[in-house]
Amino acid sequence: MKITIIGTGYVGLVTGACFADMGHHVICIDNNSSIVRSLNKGKIPFFEPNLEELVHRGLKNKRLSITSSYSKGCANKIIFLCIDTPAGEDGSPNLNNLFSAINSLGQHIKSDSIIVTKSTIPLGTNKTILSMLRNSLNSNINIDICSNPEFLKEGSAVRDFMRPDRIIIGAESKNVLKEMSNLYSPLNRQSNKIINMSIESSELVKYAANSFLATKISFINKISQISEKTGANIHEVRHGIGSDSRIGREFLYAGLGYGGSCFPKDIKALIKEEKKLGIKNSILEKVQKTNDEQSISFINKIKNYYGDNLKNKELVIWGLSFKPNTDDIRDSIAIKIIREIAPNVCKLKLFDPEAAPNARKAMKDIKNISFISNQYQGIDECHGLVICTEWKEFWDPNIDKLNALKEKVIFDGRNILNSSELKKNSFEYFGVGQ
Ligand code: UDX
Repeated sequence: MKITIIGTGYVGLVTGACFADMGHHVICIDNNSSIVRSLNKGKIPFFEPNLEELVHRGLKNKRLSITSSYSKGCANKIIFLCIDTPAGEDGSPNLNNLFSAINSLGQHIKSDSIIVTKSTIPLGTNKTILSMLRNSLNSNINIDICSNPEFLKEGSAVRDFMRPDRIIIGAESKNVLKEMSNLYSPLNRQSNKIINMSIESSELVKYAANSFLATKISFINKISQISEKTGANIHEVRHGIGSDSRIGREFLYAGLGYGGSCFPKDIKALIKEEKKLGIKNSILEKVQKTNDEQSISFINKIKNYYGDNLKNKELVIWGLSFKPNTDDIRDSIAIKIIREIAPNVCKLKLFDPEAAPNARKAMKDIKNISFISNQYQGIDECHGLVICTEWKEFWDPNIDKLNALKEKVIFDGRNILNSSELKKNSFEYFGVGQ
């Protein structure tokens, strides 16, 4: 099938490259011509495992093309909207980029089209998009709208796309469902992953899914605080509750709280919707507050440990991205922690396997930080190690190299290290909820 994807960020590029790899012919549109130029040279502006290989293959076999031209893209009947909708100042998503893409579509669509939204957008926005397009286009052109939310996790987005748990299709017409089912048929062979529902339900599924996962995280983080005060161990508690199939093991890892480009923004947006709808006693407000407090309580562990001496200390920090396997630092808790700690210490050495260039740009204003090129570089000048992101290379550190720390103390914000092993080697260890 021939399809068009508008927006070549994480969601758009992964969607386009995966559909092309499945055999479809895909035009990706981005109005940033320098991004289009570098993508056409096979350069991906962000780090996402396996994506580059797919883009190269798609460009080579000509099933994937990348352009700024709406008139080319609008020749295809199915058009996906994968435009970023960052949090606006009042907490609701900023739809300026989305609406400017709709205006461009309104000028270039010449035949019947199905507009598919993957961007996460406020409840009711699909219907707004439909009426905007119907108003701007000739009345003999038929426009349908379909809500098809993405559930891609950064760091495993390609795998998530190719092996979806479910494919939500919010569409009211049988024809749209048929076209979308054909498009996704290569992913739907072993079992039926497609769930058809109303557009309104589909819009809410996306927010509800992310809100539920964020609630699980804040829940376990709250339980980690109880664990610390009672002598329980959060690993044991997680294991104990997660083995109940009604609860499940995933998204029950206590740590520094959730970050990234989705959870914080989507929770804020759904709280905003609740307010608009007059729904009181929001669970999500508590989820958000717990998340904000989680990193503060970790920072306090560091401050309490060193006391007034903190200002003379140099610390090494492992992990800057909001989670492993990505160079994305949007709403990264690591950056929040560094901003809070930096004014209180002498120096910070920072390491991340992928996110250092983005972090360097974002923290240009902080004078007492430096970036190291391997996780142990200059560790003999540091008085402690702080782990903020659980990259695989941090899970089993070289104890001999860690022994070089001036003070053998570790603050493990993601609970990844073996605390008994470290204690045996005379390290002081501070995790979360243990
Ligand atoms: C999320 C959703 O999972 C995905 O379905 C959606 O469509 C986009 O948003 P992503 O933001 O890439 O994906 O990351 P995710 O793996 O969900 O993690 C989000 C945050 O929660 C990270 O900061 C992570 O460190 C944190 N987290 C996750 C925990 O603190 N504990 C956990 O148990 C799981």
